[in-house]
This record gives sequence, C-alpha cells and structure tokens, in this order.
Amino acid sequence: MFFHKISSLLTNFTDHHSHILPGVDDGVKKMEVSLKVLEQYAQLGIAEVWCTPHIMEDIPNTTANLQARFAELCEAYQGPIKLHLAAEYMMDALFEERLEQGDLLTLGEEHNQLLVETSYFTPPMDMDAILSRIKQKGYYPMLAHPERYVYMGKERYTALKNKDIRFQLNLSSVAGAYGSEARDKARWLLKQNYYNIAGSDLHSIRNIEYWSTRAPRALKQLLQTDTKHLDATTLRVSEIAQPVRKKSVFLQSDF
Ligand SMILES: [Fe+2]
Repeated sequence: MFFHKISSLLTNFTDHHSHILPGVDDGVKKMEVSLKVLEQYAQLGIAEVWCTPHIMEDIPNTTANLQARFAELCEAYQGPIKLHLAAEYMMDALFEERLEQGDLLTLGEEHNQLLVETSYFTPPMDMDAILSRIKQKGYYPMLAHPERYVYMGKERYTALKNKDIRFQLNLSSVAGAYGSEARDKARWLLKQNYYNIAGSDLHSIRNIEYWSTRAPRALKQLLQTDTKHLDATTLRVSEIAQPVRKKSVFLQSDF
C-alpha cells in the first residue's frame, strides 16, 4: 500500500484544515466517505484532525448545525484520531454578524484562534479593520492558505505578519497543486518562517494521495535547504527535514 512508504512523514501530524465533516459544504458529502478518509488518515499516522467546514453567506452553516453533525461523526468514528470542530470563515457580512454575537467555532486547543479566508482574487474592502476587530474580540486571526490569494505579494504578507496575523499552509501548495504562483509563494512564506500551522484543506477522498505523498516529498526536498521553517509539532519537521544544507533553488521567481 502506497501509504506505508510515506506514513512516517505524517506521523503524529495534526491536520488543521479539512472539509471532511460530511454533507455541510463543498467537501466530503457522505458519512461513509468521511469514515474512509479517517481510516486512511490513521494509516498515515495522523494524530488529530480539525474539521473546518465553510461558513459564508453562500454556505450559511450555523454553529448548532455543525456541532450536531460533528457529534454524529464522533459517534460513528471509532478509530484512534482525535477529532475537533472549528470552521473556515469567509470574512464577509455573515462573519461580521457572528463575530459581533460571539457565535463562533474556534480553532486550537486554547479556543482562541479563528480560521479566516478571503476570495482568492480580491480582499474584502475593509480587511484590515475586520482583522483588527477579530483581535479586539480576543482571538488570533489565522489566515487560511495565504499562498493562494492572487492579490497578495511579499509586502502584504510581511505587513500582515507585522500585525501578528497567523498563517496556515495548505501542504499541497508546496507541491504545486494550485499552480506555480501559489507554489512559489508557499515556498517563499516557508523561507520567511511565516507559517504557524499546516493542513490538508482536503475536500475529497481523491485528494488524499496527492497531499500525503507529493506534498511531503516536496516539503522534504524544500526543507533540505533549511530545516527550521516550521514547528515540529505541526509538521513534524524533525522527521521530514534532513540535516543537509543545499543551495536554495526555490526562490527564483519573484511574484
Ligand atoms: Fe478550506
């Protein structure tokens, strides 16, 4: 089985971003498929999974309906992976309402982070104000897959990090799953040590092979250039990275 060869790369990995809670967004649709995903995750050695379904004006999941569905998943799943529920919030008017009401599903054991995203093409008009309001409410904004936003460049990334905005890497970006621009941005962000956590952003069981094989291989190759870019507890860098330093080859494109 192909998982056996690479499973050590993801041993004890925590997937901080996934759409495997069934039937609530554009991710996995059926409970039986979610259970198969978790079975394959367990074979990979993955220890914890955060279910982070979309909440946005177009997919207006309520906190209550997600909690109920999550309880069903926990009831049905009998395996070793520790499951958690958070959400991936589009920073739109619905999110502003939920933030104001404190009606939120938080990410992280300390329940103090909010996984937020924007359109891939344009930021919300008042993005910085929204991020400030999140912090005023006592949460750390965790920007989902910053490498995928075509409107963001190096200066903007650095400005956001200077405002203590946290970044979540989609592992598949490093291998080029979203194109060369997102790949190069992910590699640059890794080099800057800008990422705080990583995830699969898995929407379908068909995505497992890609993100669990090509992404770790790309990371392994990348991290041979520098072994200190990611926290060992989120990416197991100590297992992925090799103590060999090669000349950096991944920063040739300037986006
Ligand atoms: Fe997502």
